[in-house]
Amino acid sequence: MDNSLVSSLRKSYELNELLEENVSQNPIEQFRTWFKDAIDGDVKEPNAMVLSTIKDGKPSARVVLLKGFDTEGFTFFTNYESHKGQQLGGSPYAALTFFWDGLERQVRIEGEVSKVSEGDSDAYFWSRPISSQIGAWVSKQSEEVSGRDVLEKSQAFFEEKFKNVSPIPRPPHWGGYVLKPSTIEFWQGRPSRLHDRLLYSLEENTWKITRLNP
Ligand SMILES: Cc1cc2nc3c(=O)[nH]c(=O)nc-3n(C[C@H](O)[C@H](O)[C@H](O)COP(=O)(O)O)c2cc1C
Repeated sequence: MDNSLVSSLRKSYELNELLEENVSQNPIEQFRTWFKDAIDGDVKEPNAMVLSTIKDGKPSARVVLLKGFDTEGFTFFTNYESHKGQQLGGSPYAALTFFWDGLERQVRIEGEVSKVSEGDSDAYFWSRPISSQIGAWVSKQSEEVSGRDVLEKSQAFFEEKFKNVSPIPRPPHWGGYVLKPSTIEFWQGRPSRLHDRLLYSLEENTWKITRLNP
C-alpha cells in the first residue's frame, strides 16, 4: 500500500445538519441527545473517547471509556499511578474527544479534572466483573513489565489471595476522575467540507453558543 491510497481516502459527509435553532441551550442535554443517537445508531463503543492530558507542557493522549455524565461532568476510571494519573496530578486540565463515524459527528470537551469520591469509585469498582477487579490489582498500569508471564503469575497470586474475599477491596491506586467542562464543541460533518460546528463556552455560569468556521 502506498501513500496515494492513503491520500485518496475521503468521504463526503451528508447525513445530517446541526443548526442553532435545533440544539439545546445546555450542552449536557445536547450531549445526551447525541449519545442516545450514537447508541441507537449502533456506533461501536460509543463511550470510547480520546483523553488528552499534559505532560511537562506537551500533549499525551489515549482512549478511555466514559462511564457517566451529568451536570458535574464526564466520568472515567483508571489507575491513579498510571502515566495519565501522574499527568493529571501535575496539571488537572484535560480534553475528551469522541468520534462517532456512523453519524459523522465529533464532540470535543475541555475542562478541569478531579477525582470522584471514594464511594463512587467503590460503587463502580464493585459493578465490574470479578476478573476486571483482579485485573486492577494485577496491573501496575504504564510501568514497564519484563514479560506477559509476570502478569499471569500476578493474576494467579491475586486470584488465590481474594478467593474467599467478598467484596474484593478496591485498590487504593484505582478510581475515577470527573472532567468538569468549560467548553463543549459539537461537530457535524456536512458536504463540501462546510461542516457545522457549535461551541458552548461557560461564561459567568451561563453557556454561550457560538458557531465556528469549519
Ligand atoms: C477502547 C479502549 C478503551 C479503554 N478504556 C480504558 C479505561 O476506561 N481506563 C483506562 O485506564 N484505560 C483504558 N484503555 C487503555 C488506555 O488507552 C491506555 O492504554 C492506558 O490507560 C494507559 O495509558 P497511560 O499510560 O497514558 O496512563 C482503553 C483502551 C481502549 C482502546
